[in-house]
Amino acid sequence: MKNIVILISGRGSNMEAIVRACAAEKWPARVAAVLSNRPDASGLQFASRHGIATGVVDHKQFSGRESFDAAMRDAIDAYQPDLIVLAGFMRILTPGFVEHYAGRMLNIHPSLLPSFPGLHTHKQALEAGVKLHGATVHFVTPELDHGPIVLQAALDVLPGDTPESLADRLLDSEHVIYPRAVRWFVEDRLHVQDGVVQVVQPAEPQWFMAISPQAAGKQP
Ligand code: GRF
Repeated sequence: MKNIVILISGRGSNMEAIVRACAAEKWPARVAAVLSNRPDASGLQFASRHGIATGVVDHKQFSGRESFDAAMRDAIDAYQPDLIVLAGFMRILTPGFVEHYAGRMLNIHPSLLPSFPGLHTHKQALEAGVKLHGATVHFVTPELDHGPIVLQAALDVLPGDTPESLADRLLDSEHVIYPRAVRWFVEDRLHVQDGVVQVVQPAEPQWFMAISPQAAGKQP
């Protein structure tokens, strides 16, 4: 039975999807704790209601990144985690923190990496005029929004899309791919070689397409 610790900063809808899938699909894992850097993160309430331990390490109480990361690391390690899941955790992590969890920390980023790392990804995608946008689950490495790619979801950009409409549609796909990727991890099915991740026993597609009905009828 693997221990998962999930870090959130806000509403925690991806965390919720993972908690629900873990229970419904009877993964060989349990969500041991949900921790936040913000006391008002609404996702903490969902976790408490589901009997999951919660904790807050408020970044505002620390003078710098190093001391915050050290306190967060202590809070996480109290649960003896096999996997750390960043789910809307809005903090830049120090290299020491990332190294401590090397190979056992996942993140979801709302773009088709390596395009559009950083913030405001949906706005960036619209301004670049891309026709496909998406989300990426990846292992966390010291470089922000990089790291071996586990699974990607793509969706078509529609005429009239705004950053908000893209974010809304993409969230449904995030809730499909993030639980899937975490499940592969806890089932020991992710092999990483030279920065490339493969799913084994059995191999499975590492992408998910959420194409709108309008576009589906017009494929060349
Ligand atoms: C998601 O869009 C995720 O990709 C990004 O932050 C958002 C978090 O949403 N990293 P939620 O807190 O999981 O609802």
